[in-house]
Amino acid sequence: MTGTPVQPVLVTGATGRVGRAVVAQLLAAGVPVRALTRRPDAAGLPAAVEVVAGDLTVPDSLDAALQGVEAVFLLWTAPPDTAPAVVERLASHARRVVFLSSPHKTPHPFFQQPNPMARFHAHVERLIAAAGLESTIIRPGMFASNAQFWWAPAIRDGDVVRWPYGAAETAPIDERDIAAVAARALYEEGHTGGDYVLTGPESLSQAEQVSVIGVALGRQIRFEELSPEEFRRETAGRWPGPVVDMLLAAWGATIGRPAFVTSTVADVVGSPPRTFRQWAADHADAFRSG
Ligand SMILES: NC(=O)c1ccc[n+]([C@@H]2O[C@H](COP(=O)([O-])OP(=O)(O)OC[C@H]3O[C@@H](n4cnc5c(N)ncnc54)[C@H](OP(=O)(O)O)[C@@H]3O)[C@@H](O)[C@H]2O)c1
Repeated sequence: MTGTPVQPVLVTGATGRVGRAVVAQLLAAGVPVRALTRRPDAAGLPAAVEVVAGDLTVPDSLDAALQGVEAVFLLWTAPPDTAPAVVERLASHARRVVFLSSPHKTPHPFFQQPNPMARFHAHVERLIAAAGLESTIIRPGMFASNAQFWWAPAIRDGDVVRWPYGAAETAPIDERDIAAVAARALYEEGHTGGDYVLTGPESLSQAEQVSVIGVALGRQIRFEELSPEEFRRETAGRWPGPVVDMLLAAWGATIGRPAFVTSTVADVVGSPPRTFRQWAADHADAFRSG
C-alpha cells in the first residue's frame, strides 16, 4: 500500500455499523486507529484501538481526540447544530477527511425524493469544502443491514414479513464494502476529490431480499404487502415520522425501475462488492430465534 499513515486515523461513529468495519479494515492494513465514542467503557473495540471520549455535539470535547491526527473518518448521526464548529475544528488539526454522505446528487428517482438527512449531508459537504480540507465523499445507497433492523424481529417470530412496496428495487450494500472504500480513501493517496457512489452488485426487490434471507435460513418467508397507510399505522410511535415519510417516498418513486448500481467498490478496492445473498448468509443468526 502507498502512503500508509503512521499518525493515527480518527474514526468517528466507530462503535456503529460502518465505523466498526472501518476500524477493522484500517487495523488489517496496519494503520493506527483512534476511535471516538461518547462512552469509551461500552465501546467494545479491539485492544489495538486507542479509544477516546468525545461528543460531536460538544466541539470542545474533540480536541484531545484530534491531537496528532492527519486523517478523519466523519460519520454524523448526531443532532446537526454543531456541524460547522466541528468541521472547523477538524480543519485546524487534520489534513484529510472522508465523509459518509448519501447519493443525493444521483439522478435516480430513489435518491431524488424529499430527504432531510440528504439535505444535512449536502450541508456538511459544503462546510468541508469551505474549510479547505482534502476530502473524499462516500455515498452509499441502501445498507444491507437495514434488513436486519427492519425484518429480523418478524422473521425470528414467524414466517411473514408485512411491509410496503415489495416490488421496490434497491441494491443493498454490505457495510464491509462501504468500509473497505472508506479505509482506502483514508490510508491510500489518490482519493482526494473522490466522490464515490457505492451500491451492492445487484438490483433486488424488497420481496426478493426477504426471500434471500429465507434461503439463508432454510425457511420460506412470505412477503405480505402493506399499503403505505398501513405501514404508517404499524410504525406510529416507534419510528420517527420523517424517516417513514422519506422511505415511503423513495420506495414509491422507484417502482418499475431497477435500482441504481455502480462498479465503484470494485474500481476502488479491486474486488466486487458482496452480494445480498452473502450478507444474508453471514448474518443468518440475527434472524434465528433464541
Ligand atoms: N442506513 C442506510 O441505508 C444509509 C444509507 C446512506 C447513508 N447512511 C448514513 O449512514 C450513517 C449511519 O451510519 P451507521 O449505520 O454506521 O451508524 P450507527 O450504527 O447508527 O452508529 C452511530 C454512531 O454514531 C456515533 N454517535 C452518535 N451520536 C454521537 C455524538 N453525539 N457524538 C459522537 N458520536 C456519536 C455512535 O457512537 P457512540 O454511541 O459510541 O458515541 C455510533 O458509533 C448516517 O449518517 C446515515 O445518514 C445510511
